[in-house]
Amino acid sequence: MDRILIEGGHRLNGSISISGAKNSALKLQAAALLTDQPVELTNMPRLADTRFLAHLLARLGAEVEEGPGPRMSIHAGRIDEAYAPYDLVRKMRASFNVLGPLVAREGQARVSLPGGCAIGARPVDLHLKALEALGAQIELSEGYVEAKAPQGGLVGGEIELAFASVGATEHAMMTATLARGETVIDNAAREPEIADLAECLVAMGAQIEGAGTSTIRIQGQARLGGVSYPVVPDRIETGTYAMAVAATGGDVVLTQVRYDHNKALWRALNEAGVTVTQEGENVRITRNGSRLTAVDIETQPFPGFATDLQAQFMALMSLAEGASVIRETIFENRFMHAPELTRLGADITVNGNEAVVRGVPTLRGAPVMATDLRASVSLVIAGLAAEGQTEVNRVYHLDRGFERLEAKLAGCGARIERKSE
Ligand code: EPZ
Repeated sequence: MDRILIEGGHRLNGSISISGAKNSALKLQAAALLTDQPVELTNMPRLADTRFLAHLLARLGAEVEEGPGPRMSIHAGRIDEAYAPYDLVRKMRASFNVLGPLVAREGQARVSLPGGCAIGARPVDLHLKALEALGAQIELSEGYVEAKAPQGGLVGGEIELAFASVGATEHAMMTATLARGETVIDNAAREPEIADLAECLVAMGAQIEGAGTSTIRIQGQARLGGVSYPVVPDRIETGTYAMAVAATGGDVVLTQVRYDHNKALWRALNEAGVTVTQEGENVRITRNGSRLTAVDIETQPFPGFATDLQAQFMALMSLAEGASVIRETIFENRFMHAPELTRLGADITVNGNEAVVRGVPTLRGAPVMATDLRASVSLVIAGLAAEGQTEVNRVYHLDRGFERLEAKLAGCGARIERKSE
């Protein structure tokens, strides 16, 4: 199994180019099932997760090609069988998003329930209610969702989400593009990935208004066409490297990013003593000299502080002067990185959904491992700032969501390498 070895204590200087967003790309890939025409995604991140979904799309009957460069072509000219088996959904929850597009296009589908994961139970009740509001008949049987559209196809409806779920909003929005009449999604999530998906669907011929706000209106179409569409820059990758620079000190320009997608993080970093400067499509992160100051944060749906940046922020606060309170409100079990950070010398007390991080002047390298993607990268950040060597195990978590992580960091002076056995 691969490991990542980090010799900590080196400042980061230079530039890092940011890839397309994993969490947008995965939904755009699923949306390619809505049309029998070719879909080309550019600025496509090359990740284990996007490859995994490509594999599911191919199994459904689509022709999928990755590359050359950061691009993926998906042509679902026909669907062989509207069926997504347990193995392909359990390993990656985003696979569940093929359900709606398959029902919209084929009239029925059988897709495995995803099950829980390391960060929480993560039910899909809101997804299923949304599909029911579009007329789908849903049955759960032997761990599978069996969904059928009524005679004549799905119909537009009123969807009021009990919680502004990102996945349910995206799932409902893409399915409704092919449902007859108008669909209104109330209490919709406002994450940038939703506006990105809507923009792509509109370029495919869908009619959508309000994506990025709490109310989305969709006028269903009989069919959608092909498209060539660039994936939005990854705000979580952006924020992660920003915090790596904040942790080690240095001066790094993150290129091709969306400054406005990380405002809550920029505010917290400014308060902590990090300089964040927008330079056109780039963001410059600088920290020289003085120690970081502790800042409290609470994760919230967009535009609040992203839950996918909480672990990285905890790593950063481990080194700040003073105590920081970190509250996680989106997932019920997302502090698995705390005990691992403690192995590096961090002082963290977790109580329910709240962690108190008392900053220490230095962390010391150690072997660590994590149970999910963002937790793993928080250990990389801590390792970059720690004295001595840190060994991060279970690297496959990192490969799910960070493209060329070691190369991007090494390009800025980090001593980081992958060991394969
Ligand atoms: C997306 O997950 C992201 N994943 C997550 O990123 C991200 O953390 C999350 O949004 C929040 O921003 C992808 O886009 C692939 P939710 P999603 O539905 O859509 C509860 C990463 O590291 N809920 O907004 O699954 C749920 O249990 C990943 O890249 C229900 O109760 O998030 C959770 O507590 C991790 N019923 C909360 O809502 C439902 O039907 C937020 O989930 C759906 C969700």
